[in-house]
Amino acid sequence: MRILSGIQPSGALHIGNYFGAIRQYIALQEGNEAYYFVANYHALTSVRDAGRMRQHVFDVLADLLSLGLDPRKATLFVQSDVPETTELAWLLTSVTPMGWLEKCVSFKDKVQQGLPADHGLFAYPVLQAADILLYDADLVPVGQDQKQHLEITRDIAERFNRVYGGDEDVFRLPKPYILDNVAVVPGLDGQKMSKSYNNTIEIFDDPATIRKKVKRIVTDSAPVEAPKNPDDSSLFALFKLFAPVEELAEVERRYREGGIGYGEMKNRLGEAIIPRFAHAREQRAEWAAHPERIAEVRADGAARARATARRVLDRARAACGVD
Ligand code: ADP
Ligand code: TRP
Repeated sequence: MRILSGIQPSGALHIGNYFGAIRQYIALQEGNEAYYFVANYHALTSVRDAGRMRQHVFDVLADLLSLGLDPRKATLFVQSDVPETTELAWLLTSVTPMGWLEKCVSFKDKVQQGLPADHGLFAYPVLQAADILLYDADLVPVGQDQKQHLEITRDIAERFNRVYGGDEDVFRLPKPYILDNVAVVPGLDGQKMSKSYNNTIEIFDDPATIRKKVKRIVTDSAPVEAPKNPDDSSLFALFKLFAPVEELAEVERRYREGGIGYGEMKNRLGEAIIPRFAHAREQRAEWAAHPERIAEVRADGAARARATARRVLDRARAACGVD
């Protein structure tokens, strides 16, 4: 199968990104043809400083490689190294009704958070559709928050196929790949963990920072001996991602019966997170010391991605007669 996904270079990656998306990227690079990219065109909607943009792009590449994304198995590239993307976005934008974009929850959310309501932010889902359709993707691993963007991508593809497709469809219809148990990883405040909510635990935070952040996780004021519902606890939801099964069963039982306090839970969570990314942290230092290797991966990925993209773009151009 053809797999594709992208991640914005808009800040340090967090454990929501890891469990919601990156872990699936890494699993799906085995036995599939996978394309993963750093969505810097998309990040222009929020990052307005050239130096920071370049740094974030480098960091996301280094982060993904350190976590186990293997450039011999998957094609890793930077969105703007494939300018065909923006050309396809224009072809798609011409068959996208305003109403579809107006109902987008992520547009409304981002404007509410204070991002400028410019045209780029409004047209964001069309650019995302171009990313996906340009590689004939079958499956797109993402978190729950991207579901609506995937629906719009399918709607745009179907409409383009209907308007311009003859006997053969121009675009393949992609499906989202969203794992239920990690669809929404909660942040320190109990909302969805997100770079924009200042509630993250970063994948590459050092141990002291992880311990400090875990202490900030919001809980109710139930005493140690009170029975607690694990399903209502973001502390438990995070613990579940890291704990071995036996330990999880023990903690779950003590939650329900009473006898476990939030202080103990926070200590256990911190100690469970730290070793999980220790190897990746070592790899990260190694990649950071060799920027030339990252540049090589990037150039090689761009060449491979571009070859695929060009074929699909030519098909789309021919279908609408702008070839
Ligand atoms: P953020 O909301 O922090 O800006 P992004 O929008 O860059 O994160 O998301 C990158 C990928 O990680 C997407 O596939 C997104 O669905 C996934 N993701 C982000 N936050 C979470 C979360 N809290 N739980 C599960 N998946 C998430
Ligand atoms: N919008 C996605 C996010 O914020 C990033 C993204 C851009 C993406 N293009 C994509 C994800 C294509 C999957 C496929 O997380």
